[in-house]
Amino acid sequence: MSYNLLKGKKGIIFGALNEDSIAWKVAEKAYEEGAQIILTNVPVALRMGETQKLAERLNTVVIGADATNVDDLNNLLSQSMEIFGGKIDFILHSIGMSPNVRKGRHYSDLDYNFLEKTLDVSAVSFHKVLQTARKLDAINEWGSVIALSYVAAQRTFYGYNDMADAKSLLESIARSFGYIYGRERNVRVNTISQSPTVTTAGSGVKGFDRLLDFAERMSPLGNATADECADYCITLFSDLTKKVTMQNLFHDGGFSNMGMSLSALQQYEKGLHKNCDCDDTEDGHKYD
Ligand SMILES: NC(=O)c1ccc[n+]([C@@H]2O[C@H](COP(=O)([O-])OP(=O)(O)OC[C@H]3O[C@@H](n4cnc5c(N)ncnc54)[C@H](O)[C@@H]3O)[C@@H](O)[C@H]2O)c1
Repeated sequence: MSYNLLKGKKGIIFGALNEDSIAWKVAEKAYEEGAQIILTNVPVALRMGETQKLAERLNTVVIGADATNVDDLNNLLSQSMEIFGGKIDFILHSIGMSPNVRKGRHYSDLDYNFLEKTLDVSAVSFHKVLQTARKLDAINEWGSVIALSYVAAQRTFYGYNDMADAKSLLESIARSFGYIYGRERNVRVNTISQSPTVTTAGSGVKGFDRLLDFAERMSPLGNATADECADYCITLFSDLTKKVTMQNLFHDGGFSNMGMSLSALQQYEKGLHKNCDCDDTEDGHKYD
């Protein structure tokens, strides 16, 4: 059901790789809600993924851009303004990647070149998007920019590795840039901290199935799906949330404020008499 919340608005959506992607759902909902959107992703993902098909369905185009490359971002934003015939109202940064996670490097044995890449792709790229947009004066007054985060930015989660550091930086950039962009042009900048969600990036996290189950048991409302995340993004792009900025907004069914739930406790009790095999195999050490 559409409420026309984004009628007449124009937006750029980063990160729709395939139909599981959170960005894919956001693109569909933004279109349903009356927005005109442009899709973008890194060229290699455009070759592998299905973004073009989505663009055809949503009557739009795909402009390739590596979000770590400022020239690409300049081109993306300038071309988008030409196509829209004016400035942009909203941007979704839905980008994450860690070579350390991909290559199974343990957090106590990080490859630092990989770490730089993780931080650049998953966090600094958000600054690059904001800085490029501001220099081009590409975003309308009361525009809204969102990046997607995870609770591992504040609390330690086994297996989330250097992505936790990237998410902390991402949330900090939202606050720091949100102050500047807010005071100068009334542009909102927020992060949404989303439940674990089955996507290409999500499934790369070590022990993801169990993490998903744990979060589901711990959250009074259950895990938030990608579709529900898209609904939340729409509200933040709309004019109904004009004074919300510089926030990290939990969209996690209540998980982040729980300590222990009955459902998790009952599941834990079932396994109490088994010995925990805490073999953290990346570096061959046993951790208790
Ligand atoms: N899936 C989860 O459990 C979960 C939970 C919380 C937050 N998030 C965050 O949501 C966001 C979207 O991830 P997703 O789960 O939909 O997975 P996804 O794999 O569908 O999306 C990640 C996207 O990042 C893009 N990308 C990678 N490098 C890029 C670059 N250099 N330039 C531009 N784009 C690049 C990929 O091509 C892909 O489209 C990420 O920030 C992720 O960390 C995911």
